[in-house]
This record gives sequence, structure tokens and C-alpha cells, in this order.
Amino acid sequence: MIDMRIIGLKEFTKNYINDKGKYMKKTFLRLGKQPITNNFLTKHQFEDEYFYNLDVQFDTDTKLVSITKMIDPEMMFNDEYVHRASQSITMCKHFEDISNQLQKRHKKVLEIGSNDGVFLKHWNTGDAIAVEPCGNFAKETQEMGYKTYAEFWTQELANKLLVKHGKQDVIYAANCICHIHDLDDTFRAVELLLEEDGVFVFEDPSLFNIVKNTSYDQIYDEHPHMFSVIALDNLLQRNGLQIVKVENLSVHGGSNRIFAMKLSQDVIHESVYQNKRQEEDLGLDKFEAFESFTLRVENSKTELIKLLTTLKQQGKKVISYGATYKSTTIFNYCGIDSDLIAYVTDTTLDKQGKYTPGMHISIVSPEQGFDDTVDYAFLGAWNFVKEISTKESEFLNRGGKFITHVPEVRIIGENI
Ligand code: TMP
Repeated sequence: MIDMRIIGLKEFTKNYINDKGKYMKKTFLRLGKQPITNNFLTKHQFEDEYFYNLDVQFDTDTKLVSITKMIDPEMMFNDEYVHRASQSITMCKHFEDISNQLQKRHKKVLEIGSNDGVFLKHWNTGDAIAVEPCGNFAKETQEMGYKTYAEFWTQELANKLLVKHGKQDVIYAANCICHIHDLDDTFRAVELLLEEDGVFVFEDPSLFNIVKNTSYDQIYDEHPHMFSVIALDNLLQRNGLQIVKVENLSVHGGSNRIFAMKLSQDVIHESVYQNKRQEEDLGLDKFEAFESFTLRVENSKTELIKLLTTLKQQGKKVISYGATYKSTTIFNYCGIDSDLIAYVTDTTLDKQGKYTPGMHISIVSPEQGFDDTVDYAFLGAWNFVKEISTKESEFLNRGGKFITHVPEVRIIGENI
């Protein structure tokens, strides 16, 4: 069991009881015409590229923030999926740490969205199950010896797994639950497969940080939901689960790790109350907070275009560092193309030699593109700023500068 402080649950939940019928979904942000973010293209694919309108809404009932047009999961999560979680040293260490933490108390684990096995590789093959719809990655964990299901996480799959493998001590998911459209089905499937004293541990970028840092680039097709603890607890509770502890993490620009257990636990960790209180202070349970967020997003766009235009007029060479999904939202929303960003560098082999979705900026390897001619690098992968600035200390020492839009548009040099 995890460490928890005893506090009455009923007293706390009464503020979150619904009154169905009075509620609605209200749109607060329009990020314009956007492409599929993981669709890095070759030139001959430009013409057939798919676009949709990226609008964001607030559900006044559950307090959940979601995009209005959900993209067919198979268009994003398929055998050509390119995002490899073990690409960053920070994330490798992160998954090793949480594996060690969970293994102190638990044995049988199932991971939803196991990617390239960066978390599971710390578990015994006989005790761990991988669920991963992207066939290329499912093949990798299968070859590592883990029982792998190359399927989407659904109640149907959970029923099948229950018969074959029985209940699980831990169900874990990192940067995956916020990808799934139907959260009720997802949480019911977890509840079905979890031991009575089992724990569901999942982590995703936190809405609190997105709003606080104006990091609107966390919003894209693969992130149909942006989670507050308040909204998650509402959704989990209507599906037989409840949050018992929250850890605030620095990864991915600020994430929350949620520990949830079956309903009617009488012990809730203080961190749940703290997080909900700080979210309420920021207004995340009310529509008005999102209207002011939108104004900050529009200002961020104006400032970024202004900065890049000024640098271009000064004859500076500006590139982008990391062909991230996040930067796809920014480039398309702000209309930033190869006129303002010469090219993008990325360590992922599958992205190199291709073009960014929508704005069609070319992607090259860091060896090829991150050279002495670069004056400024926009941080597409701003969430790895520490790792990148350590790796690129030579660039900074010779006067090279990074540009970020988080928490506001600014230039950063050696003072990171
Ligand atoms: P993410 O922010 O969605 O995890 O994606 C990070 C992207 O940035 C991924 O394509 C790898 C790339 N990247 C680099 O090119 N260089 C780096 O030093 C790091 C940390 C990431």
C-alpha cells in the first residue's frame, strides 16, 4: 500500500457532486487548421495531407478540458508510430525510478501504452504485461520477452486479460491516458482488472501547468484531454475508482502522477487536497479561467511572430530544436514556416529527412544541422531544456541562444 494520510472522503467529495442537466461544453480556444502531429512527411505526401480545426472546450459538469474534434486513433497510433519514449536520458531515468518505487510493494504489473518498453524493461518478464496498439513498438516488447497485446485499451480487452492472466497489482500508464477518447470505458476497464487493493498509477501533463505556463502547445490531436486533478477525480469516481495520492512531476513541462484505487477508500493523501485547492485557486473549475488563458495564448502568438520576424530582419539564422508534436501546434497556429525557421533538428532517425506536419519545414539530424552557423534555436522540446542546455553547452558558450515561449516568449542564453 502507498503512504496515505487519513482524511474523511465524504467531507471532501461533497463539493464535486454533479447536478446533471445544468451543464454544457463550452469552447474557449481555437488553434486553427492543424495537421496530424506525428505525420512527418516526404514531399510527395504534401498534397494529400489531412487537416482539421483544433478547438478546445471546457465541460462545466466534469470540469474536463478536451479538444472538440477527436481524431480517429488509428490515424495516429499505428505501425508507423515514431515517438520513442527512451529517446531522452531524462525519461529513461524517470521510468527506472518509478519502477523501483512500485516494485517495493507490488509484483504483477500491466502497462497501458508500453511504447518501446522503457518502463517495463525494469520488471521481470513473467510478471509484466504490455498493451501497445502501435505494432512497431509492440513487436519490440514481445521480442524483449514480455507478453504483449498489440491492441487499444478497452473494456473488451480487459475482460480478455482477466480470463487469461487474472487481476493485476499495478496498472501503469505514462503519457497515454490523456490520449484516449473514451475515459469512462478506460477507467471501467482498469477497475475490472485491478486487485481489490491494487493501484492504478498514471501520469500525464497537468492542466495546471499548461494554464500557468501558457504552454498551449501541449494541445494537439494525440492529447484530446488535458487533465486537472479535479476533473480526473470526477471521472474516476463515476467509474468505481478514486484518487488517493498525487505526485507533481517536472517531466513534460509539469505532469501529475495520479495514484487511484477502488472506491470507498477511507484514506486519502494530503496531496490530493493540496492539488485540488491549487487548481481551484487558479480557477480550473470555472470557465472564466480559460477565457483569460486564451488571451495569453493569443499574446504569445503575437510575441513569437514579432521576435522571429525581428531576428530574420537582423539576418540571424534561426532553427528549431526537436521536431516535437508540440511545435506542430505552435508552427501551424502561428503560421511559422521555413521563412522564419530555417530547418528543424531532431535525434529521431524516422523524422530525419522528412518535413514537419502542416508547415513543411525540413528536419535534419543535429550532426547535420546544429552547427556553427546557427544563431538561435527555438526549443520545440522545451520540456527537455535542462538536458539540452547541458548537452549543448558549447553552443551557449559561443554565444548561441535558445528561444522559448514558456512561460512567455523570451531568449535564453547561458542563464538557463
Ligand atoms: P517530446 O517532447 O514529445 O518527448 O519529443 C521530444 C523530441 O525532441 C523527440 O523527437 C526527440 C527530440 N529531441 C532531440 O532532438 N534532442 C534532444 O536532446 C532531446 C532531449 C529530444
